[in-house]
Amino acid sequence: MSASSTFNTNFKQYLISAKVKGAGIPAGLQELLLAVAHTCSTLSHEVAQGALIGLLGSAGTGNVQGEVQQKLDVIANDLLIDGVQGCKSLAGLASEEMELPLPVQGTGDYLLLFDPLDGSSNIDVNVSIGTIFSVLKKQDPAASLQTSDFLLSGRHQVAAGYVVYGPQTTMALTLGDGVVMFTLNKVTGEFILIKHAVEIAHSTEEFAINMSNMRHWAEPVRRYVDECLAGVSGERDKDFNMRWIASMVADVHRVLSRGGIFMYPWDQREPHKPGKLRLMYEANPMSFLVEQAGGASTNGDQLIMDMIPTELHERVSVMLGSKEEIERLQHYHSQV
Ligand code: AHG
Ligand code: MN
Ligand code: MN
Repeated sequence: MSASSTFNTNFKQYLISAKVKGAGIPAGLQELLLAVAHTCSTLSHEVAQGALIGLLGSAGTGNVQGEVQQKLDVIANDLLIDGVQGCKSLAGLASEEMELPLPVQGTGDYLLLFDPLDGSSNIDVNVSIGTIFSVLKKQDPAASLQTSDFLLSGRHQVAAGYVVYGPQTTMALTLGDGVVMFTLNKVTGEFILIKHAVEIAHSTEEFAINMSNMRHWAEPVRRYVDECLAGVSGERDKDFNMRWIASMVADVHRVLSRGGIFMYPWDQREPHKPGKLRLMYEANPMSFLVEQAGGASTNGDQLIMDMIPTELHERVSVMLGSKEEIERLQHYHSQV
C-alpha cells in the first residue's frame, strides 16, 4: 500500500511554520526539538532490534532512585545526551537516570529534562515503551548551571512531549498552543504530522490504574474506582472499561487518542513518598500535554502544573485525563 498523500508535513517544516500566540518558534528551540526527534528516531530503530543487538535485560546497575536499570535505560540516556549536547541553544540537561544535571557547552538558555526510557518493565516483553521530555528556560542565563535552575513549576515549560515506541513510533508535542502528533516514517527517518489540535473528550468510561495496589490507596481513590467498578448498578450509572499498560507513555497516548483517565496515585506503602512517578520529567510534561488537549491533571490537592518542585527527582501522585473524571476525583479528595 502506498503512503497517503494527506500527510506531507515533516517535523522540521512544522516547526518552521508553527506559531504560538502569534509568534514563530525560536530558532534555538527548533534546534533542540529537532535534535530530540532525531535521537528518538535512532532510538526507535534500536528498540525495534531488541535481542538481535543484545539490548534486552538488566544493565546490572541501579539509578539514583534505587531502581534497577535495564540496558535500554542506559543506552537511551547515553543516546539522548549525545544527541542534544551539541545544541548551541542548550544550557543543561537532567535525566531520570542521572543524579545531577549535566551542564552542556551551549550558549543558550534552554534546559532539557527527560525520562529516556519510560516503561522499563515492558522492554523485555515487547510492549510499548517511550521517551518523555520537557523544556524549560533558565531564569538567569549568565549564572553557572545549578540543580535549582530546573526547579520551576510545569507552567514554565516552553515545550513538552513524548515519543511512544509501539506498533507505530509516534510523537506528541505541545509548544503551549494545543497538541500535535507525528508518526515516524521508518524509511525516511522523518516524523510526519498526523494530527492537529488533539482533544481529550471531557467524559469517558475508561480508566487506567494498577489495581494490585488497591488495598494501599487513599480513600478518595478507592471510592472513585469502587464506583467505576459498580458500573450501571452503582452511583455512576454507567459501565467502565479498565486498561493498564504500565508504560505511562503508552497509557497517556491512549488517553490523548481516545480519552479516559490514567492514575498512579499516592499510596500508603511508603507514606512519605508522594507517588511513584516523577514530577519533573514524567508528570509535568504529560500534564502540559493533557491540559493543552483540554484535559486536566491533578495530584488530588492541586493541579500538577502549579506545583513548585523542591527536588529534581521529586515524586508525585498523578491523576490525569478527561476533565469531568479528574474534577470528580478532585472533589472526592476535597471531602476528606
Ligand atoms: P520508568 O520505567 O521510567 O521507571 O517508569 C515506569 C513507571 C510508568 O511508566 C508506569 O506507569 C509505572 O511505572 C508502572 O508501574 P507498576 O510497575 O506499578 O505497574
Ligand atoms: Mn518513566
Ligand atoms: Mn525511565
